[in-house]
Amino acid sequence: MSSQFDDLARAYESTVTNMAVRRHLEYPSYMAAVGDVAGLTVLDIGCGSGVYTRRLRAAGATRVVGADQSEGMLDYARDREEREQLGVEYLVRDVTRPADHADPAVDGAFDLVTGVYVTPYAPTAGQLCGLFTTARRALPAEGGRFVTYALNPEVATDPGYYADYDIDLVRVEPRVDGDEPDGAPLTLTITIPELTFSLTAYRWSLETQEHAARSAGFHHLTWIRPQVTDEGLRQYGEVYWKRYLDCPHTLILECVADRRDGDRR
Ligand SMILES: C[S@@+](CC[C@H](N)C(=O)[O-])C[C@H]1O[C@@H](n2cnc3c(N)ncnc32)[C@H](O)[C@@H]1O
Repeated sequence: MSSQFDDLARAYESTVTNMAVRRHLEYPSYMAAVGDVAGLTVLDIGCGSGVYTRRLRAAGATRVVGADQSEGMLDYARDREEREQLGVEYLVRDVTRPADHADPAVDGAFDLVTGVYVTPYAPTAGQLCGLFTTARRALPAEGGRFVTYALNPEVATDPGYYADYDIDLVRVEPRVDGDEPDGAPLTLTITIPELTFSLTAYRWSLETQEHAARSAGFHHLTWIRPQVTDEGLRQYGEVYWKRYLDCPHTLILECVADRRDGDRR
């Protein structure tokens, strides 16, 4: 499967060290929302180059599997695994298109599903539902949790709003397919030292995202605003973070499924 991410593995890896917003806000907020993973089996969907996949394993998960549709991202992740031997596995999957048949490598095989910045790349509402269905199917029938970073639909699209955070998000032409009134495409550009790259993402409303999660069987949904660490505040100062925290470009969505809520998977 070719994807807009195929040539971006190294670029994506360098965002982890070069972007203050990833280091001091995204990562700690996400790991706090995910909680203790010691002893758990985890599926990381849209794992990309394996940034969080490796971190989840390092945090004590007994088994971590990354799934992504980008061969380029997975090549990088597998190369690292070969060198570092962390015991992380990777699968090629389009997570927005759950198989009609059983997928024994995935179905019911995990205690927890994670997914950092994968929902914004579902191009249709149907595929967004497919993504949540993949997450639900990976969990036990009795229930489980999917914790994901989603694009905040209130994201600022005035050029330059996130310039201090190395991000630019610009609205592009409205959708032409009239049956998809939601999910406006955005160009997301990251600029870090000696590197700029752009991606197309889709801005799904909270209602559409919640509908997708519920239709897959997740009935308890909690939106979490990311927070900056004390170390981030000390290094950059409160004034630096204010603009971002007033309107973060992403939000964490915790989805819990419980069979007793009538989840008839
Ligand atoms: C913005 S990157 C995030 C990568 C990683 N989670 C991280 O935070 O570093 C989004 C990833 O989602 C993957 N992705 C997008 N749509 C996908 C799909 N339908 N199925 C599987 N992976 C997908 C992309 O290939 C890419 O690696």
